[in-house]
Amino acid sequence: MEVVVLPTYVEMSRAAAQIVAEVLNTKPNAVLGMATGSTPLGLYQELVRMHREEGLDFTQVTTFNLDEYVGLRPNHPQSYHFFMHENFFKHVNIPPGNIYIPSGTTSNYRSFCEWYERRIKECGGIDVQILGIGSDGHIAFNEPGSSLSSRTRLKTLAQSTIEDNARFFERRDDVPIYAITMGVGTILEARTLVLLASGQNKAAAVAAMVEGPVTSMSPTGSVVPASRSGAAAQLQPCQAATKCSAANTSTGLADASAVPGPLVPADSSAQFTPGWKWISATRSMMRASPPSVSSHPSPSR
Ligand code: F6R
Repeated sequence: MEVVVLPTYVEMSRAAAQIVAEVLNTKPNAVLGMATGSTPLGLYQELVRMHREEGLDFTQVTTFNLDEYVGLRPNHPQSYHFFMHENFFKHVNIPPGNIYIPSGTTSNYRSFCEWYERRIKECGGIDVQILGIGSDGHIAFNEPGSSLSSRTRLKTLAQSTIEDNARFFERRDDVPIYAITMGVGTILEARTLVLLASGQNKAAAVAAMVEGPVTSMSPTGSVVPASRSGAAAQLQPCQAATKCSAANTSTGLADASAVPGPLVPADSSAQFTPGWKWISATRSMMRASPPSVSSHPSPSR
């Protein structure tokens, strides 16, 4: 795996978009794993730019999103359906039938999750999975204690995640406490992982992910109190690639040394599996606004 520290959020986003574009250029029908949150917004903007200005084509692409809040309808402004359509899908030419996002409103979560896993396999598996990382080290919504072999399932959000997410909701009581999320095991099966992180508040999680022990619970004192599901990226098999990028801006990490604990270059750590890994660090807070969403049917309907 490879860790790349870049000077700015924009550079991180462009570099990540370049990776996705290169995959699409060699495999136009690639399966992309999508993340939401503030971190990948710049990546999506760059892919949209490439689509408009350079003809990057998504007509054969299939996408699977990592997660969705339970209880939010697809047209809820804070749902991940809404986020994805607003920030990416409505700007590119992915056929709507090729877009898969976990349902937050299915009446049968277990059956939905099994179907979601099955669809990923039927589509050939995920070629490139985009990931952010939570300040507690979660990837997708795999919170403290998540099994490293976990699959897509209903998950209770950690208090720290609920607090992190409260900024997007008018009232604290509106913040969902459950989500459907791909599991760590599901994520690790992607052929390439591109993990982006930005901002001071991610520094400890990034350090733990790169250098920390691979564990589902890893209490390490006051800095990162809980889950390190992100560290599972170290388990990525040799044939796959994990890239982790850290960008720095005035609002993010000043430089790699600002990460608590050394942020080692990829080639200097024996604990890393081969491949590459990339981390990023800058904070750019923007969120979705307007509507237009098509929800994917759940199998229970
Ligand atoms: C979102 C997701 C989450 C976020 C993480 C970081 O689909 O899977 O794990 O990546 O919570 O969120 P931001 O980027 O908003 O800091």
